[in-house]
Amino acid sequence: MDDLKAKYLGQISEAADEDALEAIRLAAVGKKGEVALKMRELGKMTPEERQVAGPALNALKNEINSALAAKKVALADAALDERLKTEWLDVTLPGRARRTGSIHPVSQVMEEVTAIFADMGFAVAEGPQIETDWYNFDALNIPGHHPARAEMDTFYTHRAEGDNRPPHVLRTHTSPVQIRSMEKTGAPIRIICPGRVYRADYDQTHTPMFHQVEGLALGKDISMANLKWVLEEFFSAFFGTHVETRFRASHFPFTEPSAEVDIQCSWEGGTVKVGEGDDWLEVLGSGMVHPKVLEAGGIDPNEYQGFAFGIGIDRLAMLKYGIPDLRAFFDSDLRWLRHYGFAALDQPTLHGGLSR
Ligand code: PHE
Repeated sequence: MDDLKAKYLGQISEAADEDALEAIRLAAVGKKGEVALKMRELGKMTPEERQVAGPALNALKNEINSALAAKKVALADAALDERLKTEWLDVTLPGRARRTGSIHPVSQVMEEVTAIFADMGFAVAEGPQIETDWYNFDALNIPGHHPARAEMDTFYTHRAEGDNRPPHVLRTHTSPVQIRSMEKTGAPIRIICPGRVYRADYDQTHTPMFHQVEGLALGKDISMANLKWVLEEFFSAFFGTHVETRFRASHFPFTEPSAEVDIQCSWEGGTVKVGEGDDWLEVLGSGMVHPKVLEAGGIDPNEYQGFAFGIGIDRLAMLKYGIPDLRAFFDSDLRWLRHYGFAALDQPTLHGGLSR
């Protein structure tokens, strides 16, 4: 009996894992294990022998079982220790920074412009960037022979050979949205349309794609005076300081009379500051909507009149945020975007707000 005990306790203490332990359990105290076989032999013994052997076998069985249980716990502890050694984590390490994207200056300025005009009751309208000849030119009183078509360096879409329909154009300005908006809602109307426009042009201040915001206000008694007030109000809110405007007589086929508008600025050491000094910077085209344009949009020019304007958004962003080269706007250079971009939660910076 003692040799059985020595044998199994020895094996148990050597067991390397739970599988080995289970094999030992079956061999020792399982139903067909060695201890069970010995118990069966009790029947053949004399009562005196049995009185000694019986309790001894039970004691042996108990001892083996508790050794198995203890070893099982020890193996589990060892496994846990092993995992703790290899799977440790240094919670004092600094976190890994995740770069977040930023808002492009053009998007930021579009938000700002939209917010300011919204305060003055202008809704946002949209139109397609691929336009028909009609919306981009004819409806705006720019007939086929008109030099403005060539001046605008228009991009035309390609038509298959033998397809004689007129090609579409990439809209050269946001003005076609004037017509689309008139058709959609009729007069009275007060909308702006910020968006992309295209002209075949490329240098430090021109890119083939750029951004404009169109404005259109039609009513029974809207005049140039309203235009001037709206624009001064807008520029002052946008630049956060009172900005004088200067209207210069000009010509656009879709407005009559027409004016180009300059804003007050100063030049010092090669940098421009808006809202001070006595220099002027051209920032937009505008005028009273031409009767033919109203007609093209389905509006009776004897009943309604109003103004329209088109402002270059990229130019506004360059001026407000001191960005020197327009081309960098569209290079998608992450270093540039991180430098000039805005955090996603930045509020439009409307320093002064609107005077009322
Ligand atoms: N569409 C003109 C341009 O792109 C700007 C403009 C808009 C002028 C509305 C007058 C009225 O230059």
